[in-house]
Amino acid sequence: MEYDALAKQYDSIDMMKLIDAEPADFQKAFDLGYAVDLPPSFASAEHVIGMGMGGSGMAYSILKDFARVFGTVSVEVVSDYWLPSYVKSGQKTAVMITSFSGNTEEPLSSVEEARQAGLPIVSIATGGQLATWSKEHNVPYIPFEYPVSLPRVGIAYTLGIALGVFCKAGFFKFDDSAPNVVKAALDGIAQHVHFNEMKTEGQRLAELLKGKMIYCIGAGWSYPVAIRWKGQFNENAKVIAFAEPMPEMCHNMYLGYELPEIIRTNSAVVFLDSEYDHERNRKRNQLVGHDLEATGVTIIYPTVSDELSPLGTLLAQIILGDYVSYYLALLNKKDPAEMTRIEDLKQRL
Ligand code: PA5
Repeated sequence: MEYDALAKQYDSIDMMKLIDAEPADFQKAFDLGYAVDLPPSFASAEHVIGMGMGGSGMAYSILKDFARVFGTVSVEVVSDYWLPSYVKSGQKTAVMITSFSGNTEEPLSSVEEARQAGLPIVSIATGGQLATWSKEHNVPYIPFEYPVSLPRVGIAYTLGIALGVFCKAGFFKFDDSAPNVVKAALDGIAQHVHFNEMKTEGQRLAELLKGKMIYCIGAGWSYPVAIRWKGQFNENAKVIAFAEPMPEMCHNMYLGYELPEIIRTNSAVVFLDSEYDHERNRKRNQLVGHDLEATGVTIIYPTVSDELSPLGTLLAQIILGDYVSYYLALLNKKDPAEMTRIEDLKQRL
């Protein structure tokens, strides 16, 4: 397949270069987040609410499940206008908000409620109303710059900054110091992730997925990565895609994979699998994949190097998904950056 020619024709922002830069961006972003000056009430929180929509909220979905394994706080993602009512219950809650543009109305609404409730807040944006609001209310604000205003492409920034803030606040219980954990993850990627091979794998998977409805399955902290893959398939490649968690999918979705036949036989299921998953979930991935394949479903087990740390595996899975969705966009003759329908909807609201 002539991907270079397709990229010249359809990739309006040279997204490939931006995906290639994700590991370096992640380090820069982590440093920005880790440098934040936090109020003591933030660091003593027991619960964190992460606010953001789409690509910006994704960072918190990933941290939420990562924190279930390595964290000292519970995390909830709020991608809506409201602040959960439990904040009034007295639990020590901290709030983080990310908006690339700084102008997205849902988190701007919920963060104002958080301010009125007296919660400690950290805000992250490239500017916009959120920058002005943060200065006006003396809220610690982490500005960053990115070449394009596409949150999903800048995931390394939004995730890296938020992780930096979490680590500065002591919300993770890594054995080693947090900066070392990030460095080890990135060193592992530099040493073991061969980007040309990953791109070839991305092309191979995109070719298998072309024309299919896609379900992405992930267990534990891979579930938000599955949601990330799903979102990238939707937004970059403009295809119908969904995500389900393992093992929950074995209790419902698995049974529903019978009808309509026309959809089943034109569908693919992607199992994100790594050595850090529970062994029973890995076995479930194999058994369910085998059963579905026998009924005409295309089954994919993407692999990343097994030499990586948990954080390295998480980042590598994200990057691989970005490549797959990118190549699938090109195969579909779509500009991966184009999002007119979302912009149009925002205008019509
Ligand atoms: O992927 C996208 O571009 C969207 O899903 C945005 O992330 C979403 O609209 C939120 O925008 P912002 O990050 O500017 O608040």
